[in-house]
This record gives sequence, C-alpha cells and structure tokens, in this order.
Amino acid sequence: MRIVLLGAPGSGKGTQCKRIVTRYGLLHLSSGDILRQQRVEGTELGKTARTYMDSGALVPDQIIVEMMADAIMKAPDAGFVLDGFPRTVNQATELAKSLAAANQKIDVILNLQIDDQLVVERMAGRRSCPQCGAVYNIERFKPKVEGVCDNDGTKLIQRPDDSAEVVANRLETYHLQTEPVIDYYKKNSSTVYDIDANKDAEEVIALVFVKLDALARG
Ligand code: AP5
Ligand code: MG
Repeated sequence: MRIVLLGAPGSGKGTQCKRIVTRYGLLHLSSGDILRQQRVEGTELGKTARTYMDSGALVPDQIIVEMMADAIMKAPDAGFVLDGFPRTVNQATELAKSLAAANQKIDVILNLQIDDQLVVERMAGRRSCPQCGAVYNIERFKPKVEGVCDNDGTKLIQRPDDSAEVVANRLETYHLQTEPVIDYYKKNSSTVYDIDANKDAEEVIALVFVKLDALARG
C-alpha cells in the first residue's frame, strides 16, 4: 500500500502513522522528521531548512521533492505512508511523475480534518523526543515518567515551531498552500477519505483501519 496522510499541523499525522505502519508493515516517511534529522546532523540541507521551519513557512519544493524521492526509493515492496508530503500541488505532481516512472502510484489519500482551535491546544501540550521522534502530550498522551521519553530516556522538548505565534503561521501556510492538494487529488479521481480528526485518537485510528483493511483485502 502506498498512502498519503494529509492534514493540518497537529491533526495527528505522526501519531496515527506510527499505528498504521505497525499494522500493515509499511515504512513511515515523515518529511518533517527527515528535515529535523538533517538539522541534528548539521547538514547543508538542515541548515537551509532551519529558517523556513522555525518561521512556519514551507521549505522550497525542489529541495523537498528531491529529498522525498530519495527516501521513497528505499521503501520496501509492502509500501509506505507519506506524512507531511506532498504539501503543495507542485509537490503532488512531482511525486506522481516520479512514481509513474517506477510504474507506481498512490493508492489512497487519508485527509485528517481538524478545527484550528483544537490544533492550537494540541500543539501547546505536545512534547517530542529529539532522539527518536516519539510524540507525547501533557494532557492526553503522558510519558511514564514526566518529561522523559519512554523509549530511550531522553529529555523531552517542545519543538521550536510549537510556539503560539509560529503555530498560527503554520496554520495559515496550511490553508493557503496545502489545502489545494486535497482538491488536486479529488479532481484527479484518486481515492480520498476524509477522516474526522477532532475525535479521540482511538476513534480516529478505528476509522482509518476500516478504510485500509478494505483496501488491503482488495
Ligand atoms: P511537520 O513536522 O510535518 O509538522 P506539521 O505538518 O506541522 O505537523 P506536526 O508534526 O506538527 O503535527 P502532526 O499532524 O504530526 O500531529 P502529532 O501526531 O504530532 O513539518 C514541520 C516543518 O517542516 C513545516 O512547517 C515546514 O517548514 C517543513 N516541512 C515539512 N514537510 C514539508 C514539505 N512537504 N514541504 C515543505 N516544507 C515541509 O499530534 C500533535 C499533538 O496532538 C501531540 O501532542 C499528540 O500527542 C496529540 N494528539 C494527536 N492526536 C490526538 C487526538 N486524536 N486527540 C488528542 N490529542 C492528539
Ligand atoms: Mg508530525
């Protein structure tokens, strides 16, 4: 299965992707996580991405398309879930071209829909592990020991782009540049499922599994 998970910042893409890849044996490819890893490693790509990310803007398409094409090439036959990519119509058309060159296509797009106000609340409570990328929430998904990652004991951080001001910019960027991607897929007769992501995480994943189980059965 080749899946695209679309949704606003904080809609739960990372949280739900972890569950999806475990159930279906897929590779989780998060453009945001790859960029953050490049920043930790201090690569040129990471340095270029920093200013865009910390202000809530998108990193230029050309950089992202190349980065994700490389990552997709390494995916297993079982497939992948794209989290946070494509995020512009141009990225979506470039993705379609590079998959077509390998006789592949996206099978399904899951569109996580959430109200802006809820995004603001979730982001304020999010804590992330800078080592393994695990995501927590001080209200809903607490680590076993406060402030420490369950997986590797690393001290949890607040992402620099989770401040209220940057979250507002990221939401604006999403509405202007990423929402048109949903229309692009709907117009291109791709299979798009709108999922209500305002709900509890367990309810959201149940909705997702109903759709993906049906797809997996053929
Ligand atoms: P990226 O890392 O992709 O950030 P994002 O899209 O803004 O999404 P987030 O990771 O913030 O949220 P999420 O949907 O994964 O939610 P999560 O599961 O963590 O991108 C960061 C930056 O990189 C961009 O701003 C841009 O600069 C750059 N970039 C990345 N991709 C790019 C691209 N393709 N092109 C150009 N630039 C790109 O959940 C959030 C919180 O809510 C957590 O605390 C979680 O525990 C909690 N939560 C989750 N689900 C629920 C639920 N159902 N109920 C209650 N709480 C929940
Ligand atoms: Mg994420």
